[in-house]
Amino acid sequence: MGDGDGGVGRRTFLAAMSGGGAVAGAGAAGAASAVGRDGPARRGGLLGLLGHEDEIRALIARMTVTEKLGQLQQLAWTGATGPGGSQTAAAEEAARKGELGSVLNIIGARNSNALQRIAVEESRLGIPLLFGLDVIHGFWTTFPIPLAQAASFDPEVARVDGEVSAKEARSHGTHWTFAPMMDVTHEPRWGRIAESCGEDPYLTAVFAAAKTRGYQGDDLSAPDRVAACAKHFVAYGGAEGGRDYNTVDVSESRLRNLYLPPFKAALDAGCATVMASFNTLSGIPAHANGHTLTEILKEDWEFEGLVVSDWNGVGELLPHGFAADGAEAGRIALNAGVDMEMVSTHLADHGAELLAAGRIKEDRLDDAVARVLRVKYALGLFAQPYVDESAVVEVPTAAARKAAREAAARSTVLLKNEGGVLPIAAGTAVAVVGPFADSRDMQGTWAGPGGEKFPPVSVLAGIRDAAGRGAKVTYGVGATERADLIVVVVGEGAKLSGEAASRSDLGLPGGQEGLIAAVAATGKPFVVVLLNGRPLTIGNWLESAPAVLEAWHPGIEGGNAIADVLYGKVNPGGKLPASFPRDVGQLPVHYNHENTGRPYDPASPGNTFITGYLDVDRTPQFPFGYGLSYTTFEIGTPRASVARIAAADLRRGETFEVEVPVRNTGDREGDEVVQLYLHDPVATLVQPVRRLRGFERVTLGVGERKTVRFTLGAADIGFWTNAVDGRFVVEPGKIELFAGASSAARERCGVVVE
Ligand code: BGC
Repeated sequence: MGDGDGGVGRRTFLAAMSGGGAVAGAGAAGAASAVGRDGPARRGGLLGLLGHEDEIRALIARMTVTEKLGQLQQLAWTGATGPGGSQTAAAEEAARKGELGSVLNIIGARNSNALQRIAVEESRLGIPLLFGLDVIHGFWTTFPIPLAQAASFDPEVARVDGEVSAKEARSHGTHWTFAPMMDVTHEPRWGRIAESCGEDPYLTAVFAAAKTRGYQGDDLSAPDRVAACAKHFVAYGGAEGGRDYNTVDVSESRLRNLYLPPFKAALDAGCATVMASFNTLSGIPAHANGHTLTEILKEDWEFEGLVVSDWNGVGELLPHGFAADGAEAGRIALNAGVDMEMVSTHLADHGAELLAAGRIKEDRLDDAVARVLRVKYALGLFAQPYVDESAVVEVPTAAARKAAREAAARSTVLLKNEGGVLPIAAGTAVAVVGPFADSRDMQGTWAGPGGEKFPPVSVLAGIRDAAGRGAKVTYGVGATERADLIVVVVGEGAKLSGEAASRSDLGLPGGQEGLIAAVAATGKPFVVVLLNGRPLTIGNWLESAPAVLEAWHPGIEGGNAIADVLYGKVNPGGKLPASFPRDVGQLPVHYNHENTGRPYDPASPGNTFITGYLDVDRTPQFPFGYGLSYTTFEIGTPRASVARIAAADLRRGETFEVEVPVRNTGDREGDEVVQLYLHDPVATLVQPVRRLRGFERVTLGVGERKTVRFTLGAADIGFWTNAVDGRFVVEPGKIELFAGASSAARERCGVVVE
């Protein structure tokens, strides 16, 4: 590995190749993002990250090189997700010497206070430690998995999860959660789709911002808030073949249009930290990627918080084939923009010799230390390093459980309901069958400490409770004969999705399809309830099932929430955040694809020279944004407030409105998600056939109408080009806008950009 690697961004590299000098257009990303609806990233975010610069400078001036390197080290109290295992003894020793910045996976007010006391009272400078933990969808109170939450199309669901989680976690000594995860993905085979918001950058961005606000509030030093972490930076969801940790090779435009927007949104919402991702990005590991970590994140977006590596991510530069030894790995990662090393110890081990040899610079080292200290100051740890052991939240409170129940019910997606099988009428004799009917395996991946300690309400228990005393609810296949209706609860256990849990077959595992066939053979009406962490292929049995409810991994109150929906106490209103494929062979199949030069043309159905497959339809089983209700809705034609608008005005920040009428045409109150999609039919960069640019979940009574208003501006209409220095363009031409209840929306209008 030569000298110029690591820390050299693409833009600097290209400039060097073309004879050096200033890179034309550098900084355009900042200017372009300034036209975005959310405005530019605020320096230091919303949380006063920059409020203690003098103290930080003074502290750094007193630190030895070893102490500085120590601040960049995070060790694991207990082992968890990768190589390396627990480092408990090493963490205590390093804390005592003042050579440790952070610990992950330490849980409990007493435990964390004891370790903190060592750092604060026994080390030379008494700098407090930062305690991190994966609080992904709950600490004690397990909310539905993030993919489910995205299905609610209600960002308030994510915000409330963040708020409840932060309160519980901080009371146990956790200062920092490694969430929200915001990896857009077109790969249901990838197990980590469960942690994501699915296939769309806009939906993901809205949820990333909401969850960040939920965790952080507006004062990180409050005893009920934690610092959030935007992860994984970046494009991890592009893993080839959906195989975890696998190669990603993307163009600059795809990076900026598809993968980066949620990160920008989270940082605009004040997110204090960012985690690098395990993948390579067009040949450069994300942990070594100066283009993304430094040029885009720290320079263009002016991010002042800290970048943490993923678990052993710096060490993995060796097996990636990017560093020959640990010293090189540490140097490359630091120079690229990683500020804190999780689990592996290459910077701590080799930093001093690298500094002495001029392979890393003191300025960069001090910058990384300042970023770590900034987050500690913002969390109030210098003022109050300990957590109040008498104020620990011991159990999920009734209010937290209620919020989790509402979240789970709002996250359900009704995929089919033929003949009005649902909702279940009072007094119906119900048989509940299937391997997940009375299972507690419904918390999903990354359930947090509450996952084991506070098991969820099973579907059977929820149904028994909802059906009421005296109602005939029976359990097991033998019971189906006496039933009027059968509820079949099937799915994937938690271990079949999440990290390192990719699947090549997306059907229901085990003999579950056979069970559905056997239930269908009884001739009785039945409902399939799905508990899963990803889109599944359900075409083998979909025809046979009168009703299908997608309930994901719904969390601690899952059974109650599902019963609320089955019995009609809650009218389902969620929508799919990722397309359901017909067959794995179709992948990737997502709504925001390009048209190709040979799209399907309904006017010439006989033409076989079109993009598609010989043996399966080209469309998904269910598209992004799809979901039914117990009532029906009519969404009318969208109307734009302008027919024409100047590109220059849009660039200056002008916006226009699009109105979409919606009416409840059925016989009960319900929720519809009004969705607005945009298509730019002719552009200098081929555009997706649809891009979601607005959505609103509305509740309407019988016959009730509403007009939903969306505001569009340059950020919606324009797109990032392939320029490595980041160029966002708003081009003249016609823009098509589609409104409807899914990504298959047909109602349309147009606006001409002049
Ligand atoms: C995962 C991260 C997680 C970290 C710490 C890694 O394996 O990729 O998402 O935050 O472990 O547990």
